[in-house]
Amino acid sequence: MSLLEVNKMSVNFGGIKPVSELDLHIEQGELIGLIGPNGAGKTTVFNLLTGVYTPTEGSITFDGERIDRLKTHQIVKKGITRTFQNIRLFKQMTVIDNVKVAFNNRLSYNTVEGILRLPRYKKQEEWLQEEAMKLLRIFELDGYANELSMNLPYGKQRKLEIARALAGKPKLLLLDEPAAGMNPNETNELMHTIKMIRDEFGIAILLIEHDMHLVMSICERLVVIDYGNVIARGTPEEVQNNEKVIGAYLGQA
Ligand SMILES: Nc1ncnc2c1ncn2[C@@H]1O[C@H](COP(=O)(O)OP(=O)(O)OP(=O)(O)O)[C@@H](O)[C@H]1O
Ligand SMILES: [Mg+2]
Repeated sequence: MSLLEVNKMSVNFGGIKPVSELDLHIEQGELIGLIGPNGAGKTTVFNLLTGVYTPTEGSITFDGERIDRLKTHQIVKKGITRTFQNIRLFKQMTVIDNVKVAFNNRLSYNTVEGILRLPRYKKQEEWLQEEAMKLLRIFELDGYANELSMNLPYGKQRKLEIARALAGKPKLLLLDEPAAGMNPNETNELMHTIKMIRDEFGIAILLIEHDMHLVMSICERLVVIDYGNVIARGTPEEVQNNEKVIGAYLGQA
């Protein structure tokens, strides 16, 4: 059984179907691209996978369990985390605190222990600090740990979002246009980081991205959607030469 099995998933908003009968299988450790023109339904797929929307038809099975009726925080606990197309950091919090809050669901001290600073709390605080710093180091953000996140340059805020998503210890990471607004150098660096995350952590990644160079060079498989329907699947090469795909993108121009 695959890590993620989506079968005939649809969502209907008063007659509009942004996602229709979508099938999607992702194996452990796979790096898959989800592409398609603007408004194709890509972000809606992420919202369905993370419980922001509930599918009106079909099923989502993750790690052997149905998750399509679960709430977002329950899905995070099962092991799916995400980043957002529009950055959603706690702007007034420091960089390291943004990562620390995402570890929350993995801590076990209670409020009283926290207030009294009992040993278990202290131990966990130290652990938390170390783990958060480890993640920041991966993204070369450790030097900014105590800065307010809103003061980071845009490219670094995008990286911080990924670091925060990893703090939830996902088995599947969903990245919604992580390179949006980045310059070519930042994009290139990000490309290597995404690949490294998969290789080092063995996490499956579903990547929405408009930067075709990025998608084509790091993804093993691509799923192309248009008007909420899958129009093509395959290796980057296969998809690149697919007439329906070329048509969908040309139609957008
Ligand atoms: N809650 C909703 N109610 C009604 N329509 C919605 C809702 N959410 C999304 N849509 C519609 O679904 C369609 C797909 O939107 P979505 O944001 O998923 O596209 P996308 O592929 O992520 O596009 P982009 O590349 O521009 O980010 C759009 O037409 C959008 O207006
Ligand atoms: Mg989108």
